[in-house]
Amino acid sequence: MGWAAAMTHDPELVQEIRDREWFHTIDLGDGLVTRGNPPSELLSAPKAIPEVRGQSVLDIGAWDGKYSFEAERAGARRVVALDHFVWRLNPAKLQAYYEACEREGRLPDPDMVGAAFLEVDTVPLKRGFDLAHAYLDSHVEAVVDDFMTMDLNTLGTFDIVFYFGVLYHMINPLGALQRLRSVTGKVAVIETAAVLIPGYPDTSLVEFYAGKERNGDYTNWFAPTEAALHGMCRAAGFGRVETRAARIRPRPPSTAAWRRIVGREGPLSPSNHRLVVHAFP
Ligand SMILES: C[S@@+](CC[C@H](N)C(=O)[O-])C[C@H]1O[C@@H](n2cnc3c(N)ncnc32)[C@H](O)[C@@H]1O
Repeated sequence: MGWAAAMTHDPELVQEIRDREWFHTIDLGDGLVTRGNPPSELLSAPKAIPEVRGQSVLDIGAWDGKYSFEAERAGARRVVALDHFVWRLNPAKLQAYYEACEREGRLPDPDMVGAAFLEVDTVPLKRGFDLAHAYLDSHVEAVVDDFMTMDLNTLGTFDIVFYFGVLYHMINPLGALQRLRSVTGKVAVIETAAVLIPGYPDTSLVEFYAGKERNGDYTNWFAPTEAALHGMCRAAGFGRVETRAARIRPRPPSTAAWRRIVGREGPLSPSNHRLVVHAFP
């Protein structure tokens, strides 16, 4: 059926969609829009996402599925939405662990963060994806698995692979890109946190976050400069890499006095840089 089909929806389904807090803002049609984060400016840039019509698409780290459902709406032949961490997560247990670490003055263990607070048999935070899927009568296929450890032969290859907002959460980013390469038929679209070092635009460096320095999130580990991201993609086996969009978000000034000096927007922060690149086999 799909996105624009006129359907009578179960009122309970609609109410749950309205009541829920979402990660993604998804326009479900009929005036129903999920209450999520503002859409990514970068991924809305004209050349950020390639033409998906007739293509097979894999969306790694799909969460509520915005980009999977949009690919389906745009005519993709087949769409697979893959996720596991957020879908399985027990956020209260993870938060309690973070607070215990902070009380004890130690950093969270990356292996604990990545695996210890995931439900085994249930996917509580996949609910948003499932609600949107039901509302849209979607054919997007969901795969609940860890992209870093699953048998990639079971996935196969896809013409277009979305890798949005995932790379900097990886403790082994180069290994992640190697795995990404192995499932990419035509192009991988990588959207990631990055760094820009003023005066040194071509420097190849990767910034490391031992704690929650980047956006207060302990699951953010590494952010590359543009040159490093291109180099990592090449080292992972991609033949050609093109930057399609870049953004530096100004850091808002924290005090009135500082605001008078730097203006409302604030200075450009190298650590708020983000990039979209296309990596071609
Ligand atoms: C910051 S969110 C980005 C969500 C979405 N792709 C977007 O850009 O709006 C990161 C997503 O990657 C998922 N993720 C992290 N590690 C993963 C892994 N090893 N395998 C599959 N998904 C993973 C998380 O569960 C989460 O949904």
